[in-house]
Formats: sequence, structure tokens, C-alpha cells
Amino acid sequence: MNRYTKISCLFLSLFLSAAAYGQRKKDVPLYKDAKQAVEDRVQDLLSRMTLEEKVMQLNQYTLGRNDNANNMADPVNDIPAEIGSLIYFSSDPGLRNKVQKKAMEQSRLGIPIIFGYDVIHGFRTVYPISLAQACSWNPVLVEQACAVAAQEARMSGVDWTFSPMIDVARDGRWGRVAEGYGEDPYTNAVFGVASVKGYQGNDLSDPARVAACLKHYIGYGASEAGRDYVYTEISDQTLWNTYMPPYLEGVKAGAATLMSSFNDISGTPGTANRYILRDVLKERWGHDGFVVSDWGAIEQLRPQGVAKDKKEAALKAFTAGVEMDMMNKSYDTHLGALVKEGKVSEDMLNDAVKRVLRVKFRLGLFDRPYTQVSKEKERFLLPKSLAIAERLAEESIVLLKNKNKTLPLSGVAKLAVIGPMANSKWHLLGSWRAQGNAEDATTVYEALKKDFQGKAQVMQAAGCDFDGNDRSGFEEAKKVGASSDAIIICLGEKAQWSGENASRSTIALPQIQEELLMELKKLGKPLILVLSSGRPLELNRLEPVCDAILTMWQPGIPGGKPVSGVISGRVNPSGKLSMTFPYSTGQIPIYYNHRQSARPHQGKYQDIPSTPLYDFGHGLSYTTFEYGELKASVLKARPDGKIAVEVPVKNTGDTDGMETVHWFISDPVSTISRPVKELKYFEKQLIKKGETKVFRFEIDVKRDFGFVSNQGKKYVEDGDYYVIVKDKKVKIEVGR
Ligand code: GLC
Repeated sequence: MNRYTKISCLFLSLFLSAAAYGQRKKDVPLYKDAKQAVEDRVQDLLSRMTLEEKVMQLNQYTLGRNDNANNMADPVNDIPAEIGSLIYFSSDPGLRNKVQKKAMEQSRLGIPIIFGYDVIHGFRTVYPISLAQACSWNPVLVEQACAVAAQEARMSGVDWTFSPMIDVARDGRWGRVAEGYGEDPYTNAVFGVASVKGYQGNDLSDPARVAACLKHYIGYGASEAGRDYVYTEISDQTLWNTYMPPYLEGVKAGAATLMSSFNDISGTPGTANRYILRDVLKERWGHDGFVVSDWGAIEQLRPQGVAKDKKEAALKAFTAGVEMDMMNKSYDTHLGALVKEGKVSEDMLNDAVKRVLRVKFRLGLFDRPYTQVSKEKERFLLPKSLAIAERLAEESIVLLKNKNKTLPLSGVAKLAVIGPMANSKWHLLGSWRAQGNAEDATTVYEALKKDFQGKAQVMQAAGCDFDGNDRSGFEEAKKVGASSDAIIICLGEKAQWSGENASRSTIALPQIQEELLMELKKLGKPLILVLSSGRPLELNRLEPVCDAILTMWQPGIPGGKPVSGVISGRVNPSGKLSMTFPYSTGQIPIYYNHRQSARPHQGKYQDIPSTPLYDFGHGLSYTTFEYGELKASVLKARPDGKIAVEVPVKNTGDTDGMETVHWFISDPVSTISRPVKELKYFEKQLIKKGETKVFRFEIDVKRDFGFVSNQGKKYVEDGDYYVIVKDKKVKIEVGR
């Protein structure tokens, strides 16, 4: 073949392959073309969908841990290929891929399912509960932990986590205080944003990221008397200044989804609340993802008294702005009919479907619908993941009391570790443990034996159970205690005493635990109380008799290692409370950012103190820090101005330590009565012994001094404001 023939053949083959490519492109629908823009793919797919296909995208069923008949959820074979979403309870992507294959190949349009799950504080590498995370005041570390959770979840078949929970909560009787970031709006906003960034990263289609879900929108933490699933009384003023800020910041951070709440907001349930779901979230904030109802929340509109039946509940929830029905099978049953009856517009239906499809396209599910299968050891408990979890658990520990520097322990030859938490693994993981395996955890006793190896003999006795009346273990515990040089008593809560549907009438520990402690106190040994709980506890009877008290919260699989590190001195504690510890249950609700009283020096309880046992922000270190003069760049500012404030902090102790500086503001005279102080910034830094570090905060007058009107408008008034750090404050005059 001569040269010209060869060149002609080459051109001909190139032309034919280009034509074939063009032909393939023409045959492939636009929505399946990964090169097309998401919005074009969404629009193209929507234009091809029938009413039934649209409705099915707005439903979420469950998919259990296996596909055999006794599946705890919907039997796999009964799951329709057109279903929009499934809650995925397995940690193996194989089952997910099997069901996804059904959706991709047996449905007419091949729309992938989005698989969701509660990855709240870790997937398999379970790290501390959220309330503890906030006590670390380290959002960077929390973001890293959430990235670990995302990687483990996505590689296990989960595309979407129902997290972060950013419900401001001030009532420890409510079991779900464990899941949020405490009593303060700014704290919940910062850690909510850190979680969203950790989960979602910069590209949702990354096979190590998942879509986030801000929950429970909104006001769930205000559930009356700490009872779950009930009503709240939230004024518009409080709604905008206390509960909305974390959600606004979470939406600005790009959270893909939100979950509507069970509770009502002053009579209108979160799941049927057009104002918060449409007027605010979609129209004012421009959220372009979707809202999923909480489990059964749509049908619950009936017992809540705002819907006469499931069909009306579906109508109210959908028109209010809930796009996806979790588990209720109300949209699949009634939404199509509601559209045909003209009660739900096609436009509203199409908007809802577009929102769900948009998130699926952004997740890359149309282009990579299947999870790459991997071995567990390739995705779980990786060394880097464990290190992040352990560091977060260390920084979450709060040293509440340390009389005469009892801690760190030294010079002891025999150490007694006593109590129901001394050798427990299970309860260390707390509630919402996802695929956490208690066997992965280290108990306090195991950890202390390791840290004190070659230094002290460590003996253990349970003494008693978490509750009940069996005191038969007391004698053994007293014997072990009597033979020791110091007693570490490990008390606290069972994992199931907090979390969902876990309200308690008192935040005190069960009587038997207090009795055990009092019995051990009689031995006259140094007594160190280690607490593990999902909520602040009532400690007023224990506080006076303990030489040291620390809470490790529910640390996850790092377990007792961090707290053992603190006791042995390997770790210098740096945690500070993100939620007030009341003196007793009777004080609840009690929190730092309460409004001003008409008579600050009166109105006290007659029978108990009116101040908490431990304040928001309380936490001791093994070193000491001295705060210098608080300085402001200006003492007068315009409403649109900025002020640089700074405070030097010196480490005056004999060991390096991390210190968190909390910056508060107050506005003593305003159109409305405002909180006595409000957290507006915090920063944590390592300060070496003898070193001084200057902490700075750039105040944006409107952002940080202003407040939100009951219509959601932020503004700042002329007048005197204060910037507060510890017991120091500087007055700033704001005027036009
Ligand atoms: C539960 C919880 C919610 C969770 C959902 C799915 O009822 O209220 O936080 O994400 O159902 O498990």
C-alpha cells in the first residue's frame, strides 16, 4: 500500500470514528452525558420523567443489613427500581451495589438511588459525641474527623449522612443534647460548618465525601422540659437570634440537605412550617438542595393535630417545603393524586424533583452509581483516622476540678480503678454509634494499666452496676480501694441513657453510684472522679468530696486512652464546657447567654444556689494562664465599622498547654432585652511555658454587635457595647 493510500485510510478511519462518536453522543441522552452542566442534565432528565417517576424520587425507604427475608427493613425484592433514596444500614457496599443495579437497569430512566445513614460522630472509627467535640474548641480537628467519617461511609456505600445536628440545647434532661454542640448559637454554627466542610469537601462527587444534612430544622432543642418529640415555645425574636444562626451558616457553607424536625415551633410543626422551609430557607437564603422529613414526621402531623389523615399530612408537608418523605410512605401513596387533583402544582413537584436530582448529579451518582468494593482494612480504622479520633477525644476532656494539683498522678505504687465505667467498652461509644464496634475501644482500666506500666500496680473493681440496688460489689471495691494509694472512680451513663427518645427526669447519677463514691471516700485516699455521659450531670453532692473531677463524655473508640493520658500527665487537658453544668436539675434551663433580669440581685431560689456548678467555658489545665490588658484599636465605631481587639495571654505555669480564648460581646441597653453576653469568636492556641501569645479578633460591628429582628433582619443600634474576655471588658461606643 503506497503512502497516499495509507494517509487516506488514516483520514477515513478518523472520520468514521468521529462520526461514530457523534452518533453515540446523539444516542446518549443529555442527562447521561457527564460533560454536560448539572442544571442542563437535571432539566433534561426532568423533561423525560412521568408523574409516577417524579413522585418516587421523593421517597426514602430503608434497606437493612442484608437481603434475606428477615431484613429489618424493606425486603430488597420489594424495593421499587424507581425509589429515590434508601437508608442504608450495612457497612458493606455489596448490598448497596446490588440494589443500585436494580435502579440503574430495571427502571426506565436509570436514575441512581441516594443512600443515606446516620453518621453522627464517626462511621466505624467512632470519635467523641458532638457535645464533647465542641468542648475541644478545635473546629479544624472536627472537620478532619468528619472527613474520616465521610471516607469510611462513602467507601461503605453511604452517599449522604444525616448530620450535623446543630440544635442549640439548654436542657440536659433531653437525651439529644449529646448530639449537638451545646447551648450557644455561635458554637453550633462554627462546628456545624466545620462538619459540613469535613463531610462534603469541595466536590461532592469525591468518592471520599458525603452530602451533609443540617438537622433538625428547627428548634428541636427547645423541646419542653426535655421531653422528646413534643412542642416548643419559640418567639420570632428567639427563633432568629438563637436557633436560626447555625442553620444560616450551614446553608452558606453549602450543606446539600436539611432535615425537618419533629417538634412544633409555637404550634406549627417544623415539618409543616412554610415560613422556615420555603420563605426563609428557599426564598430568602436560596438553598438549592432538598429537605428530607425526619423519620415518620409527615404522618406525625396527625397526632400533632394539624392533619386529619395521611393525605392531608402529605399535602401540608410538601407544600410547606419538605421535598423527601423519610420512611412514611405518604408521598408515594398520595402525592400523585394531590397533583392530579390540582392541590399540588406541577411546578412545585418539578422544583422538588430537581432539587433531589441536583444533589444526585453533584454526588456523581449518575456517572459512578456503584461504590468501589474494598476490604474493610482498606477503609476502616486507618492509623491516621485513629490518630485524629484520639486527639479529638483528648482535646474534648474537661478537667472540672483539681484540688491541690491532685492530677497528674505521680508517686503512687498502687492505683485502684473502680466503678461501672472502669472496664466498660460498650458505653464509651455513646448514642448514634453507626457501625462502631465496642471491641475496637480501650477501657479506662486497660489504658491506665498501659500508662502506669512499670510505675504502679493498677487494680480494678466494678463496685456496682450503673443503676439498680445491688451493693454486693461494694466490699470488693472497698478492699481494692483500701489497698491503693489513690482511687480513680469511673461513673456515668449507659450509652442508651442519651440520644433519641432518651429523656431523663433528673441529670443526677443513679443513687447507687453516688453511694459507692461516698463509701470509697471514707477510705481517706485521694479520690479522682472520671465521668462518662451524654449530658451535663448533677454533681453538687460529689463535688465537695472529690479531689479531682474530669469528664471524658463518650469518647468513642479512643475510649479510656485519652483520660488515662490526662491522669498520668501524658496529656495536658485543654477542654472547656460547651454546655453549663447546673448545680442541680431544678435549675434547668440554665445557660450563660440568658437575657437580663429585672432584678439581678433578687429572684433567687430559696433552697439551692442560683448559679451553676460549672459555667459554660469552664475547664482547667495543668498549667496556668494569665490574661493581660484587653485592647481595642478604637473605642468609637460606626455601625459599618470594624474594630481590632486583642489580649495577651501568658503561660505562667510549668508546662506547655493549649488555651482557648472566648470572645463575648454585650449590649446592655437595646430595643430588646439582650443576653448578658454572647459568644462571637473563639480561638485555641498552644502556649509554651513562659510564653506569651497575643489573641486577636476583628470585630465587624454589624455582624458581632448587631442582633436580628423578629423578621430576620440584622441590624445594629447606636449605643454602648462591651467586648468581654474572661473578667476583662472594654467599652465601644457605636454611633453614626
Ligand atoms: C431519627 C432521628 C433523626 C435521624 C433519622 C434517621 O428519628 O430523629 O435524627 O437522622 O431518624 O435515622
